[in-house]
Amino acid sequence: MTQHLADATAGTESAADRSTADRPGWWRDAVIYQVYPRSFADGNGDGMGDLEGVRARLPYLRDLGVDAVWLSPFYASPQADAGYDVSDYRAIDPMFGTLLDADALIRDAHELGLRIIVDLVPNHSSDQHEWFKRALKEGPGSALRDRYHFRPGKGTDGELPPNDWESIFGGPAWTRTTNPDGTPGDWYLHLFAPEQPDFNWEHPAVADEFRSILRFWLDMGTDGFRVDVAHGLVKAEGLPDIGGDGEQLKLLGNDVMPFFDQDGVHEIYRSWRRILDEYPGDRIAVAEAWTPTVERTAHYVRPDELHQAFNFQYLGTHWDAAELREVIDTSLGAMRPVGAPATWVLSNHDVTRHATRFANPAGLGTQLREAGDRALGLRRARAATLLMLALPGSAYLYQGEELGLPDVTDLPDEVRQDPSFWRASGQDGFRDGCRVPLPWTTEGSSYGFGTGGSWLPQPSTWGALSVEAQTGDPDSTLELYRSALAVRREQPALGAGDAVAWLDAPEGVLAFRRAGSFVCTANTTGEAVRIPRPGRPLLASAEPVADGAEDAAEVELPADSTVWWAV
Ligand code: GLC
Repeated sequence: MTQHLADATAGTESAADRSTADRPGWWRDAVIYQVYPRSFADGNGDGMGDLEGVRARLPYLRDLGVDAVWLSPFYASPQADAGYDVSDYRAIDPMFGTLLDADALIRDAHELGLRIIVDLVPNHSSDQHEWFKRALKEGPGSALRDRYHFRPGKGTDGELPPNDWESIFGGPAWTRTTNPDGTPGDWYLHLFAPEQPDFNWEHPAVADEFRSILRFWLDMGTDGFRVDVAHGLVKAEGLPDIGGDGEQLKLLGNDVMPFFDQDGVHEIYRSWRRILDEYPGDRIAVAEAWTPTVERTAHYVRPDELHQAFNFQYLGTHWDAAELREVIDTSLGAMRPVGAPATWVLSNHDVTRHATRFANPAGLGTQLREAGDRALGLRRARAATLLMLALPGSAYLYQGEELGLPDVTDLPDEVRQDPSFWRASGQDGFRDGCRVPLPWTTEGSSYGFGTGGSWLPQPSTWGALSVEAQTGDPDSTLELYRSALAVRREQPALGAGDAVAWLDAPEGVLAFRRAGSFVCTANTTGEAVRIPRPGRPLLASAEPVADGAEDAAEVELPADSTVWWAV
């Protein structure tokens, strides 16, 4: 059937060819695969994924057909927020391996033609970072306190936080310190967990330190950075109150907050771009910037700033033709004036996997606890992926989505580790559900994840979803991803450009032409829809049906399906 693309891909240059050719602008149409190291593969059998595990599976990623791998943090960290609390930016946490392992991983990846992007966490450090530990130990007056946001409290005895900001993980964004003599002291700011104090980016030592950290990892040979909380580094002058009804977190993404998306962040990225440009090859940076609009996001990717920014507006869009068309047009339109490629993403380590979001009819939140209708979710997820991979620009995949994995929605509370779950008293923050270790084999200890169990329990359905179970099955989601990425590699024009040409289509159906001879149709409705046959099917998330003759004038697009056509 259409998923067998042996003919279509014959003669395609290999991954290694593409890399050694050192294609300038490789990132403009790259497909970048996010590895969440603790859950990808466990090389040493301690139940926790590690760099050795990732290295051993690089050939899998090469064969999948991605261009680059982004690794979530593997740095020294007390793991209060799964590694997004870094205590030493130049060291590997022993649970993930050593610097030598990182070096070997980068080298092997390059030999396979894969690029490596590492996560940079500049908004905050761990409370176990040397600077912060000394700032606390040395007490009020320590010069190191200026590198963070320490403030006296309000109220008669300083017993109230310095302002009304709330932590993204729930509770106040301030924690009171205890002075070395045991008396209650100043407060410090943490937009996330108390173990993640925010840096003061007005301090030159902070800026210098991060320029040096960038160089450290660029010298190690990495191809770029994913910049964590890129919109948060600069806080509004004077740390003003937000006011309102105490429902601040609802404003996130709707309004310009005094701690997010401040204009001052852009100067930082200009200085980083100068460093990236000093290095040979295209070294890139992608912003994790949750901004109110794609137009605001575009500011991060002006020609002298970062290269890409995640498109969270796309991630938050329902499986609905009209909404999708609008977000696609708005995204392309916002990026066009700054000359940056649009990016597309459906899943990551912070949100409910798209197979589960789309399984819930409302599907509103990005964090859900409902398993929903799994078959519906998978059908839509496969269709949504094919749609995404037909768009111009760069696409981000999250480990396990190529297996069609759902979120694990029924983890018992006692195994959960996400600090946002615990701080919000179980009301929000279900990020553990998308972080359950991957299944590689149909049976065996932790389904091939490792030999020593897995840090979050895997459901009994995991074996049937494993890489082993899906490999070679033409109807599997894994083979659908492999075929789609092979077509994208064979037709680089698919990822190029900054526009799609929309074609007339019935309500609920999207149809657009790309690269001259390529058409994508997506039926987002729950019913089969008949359309004039666009051409020859190349690849389909569910087979189009032509009654009778092969050359029938019309075809039926199954409910919730995407088809790629050669015209
Ligand atoms: C980013 C990360 C998330 C982390 C937070 C704090 O949003 O993606 O996982 O909890 O930053 O570092």
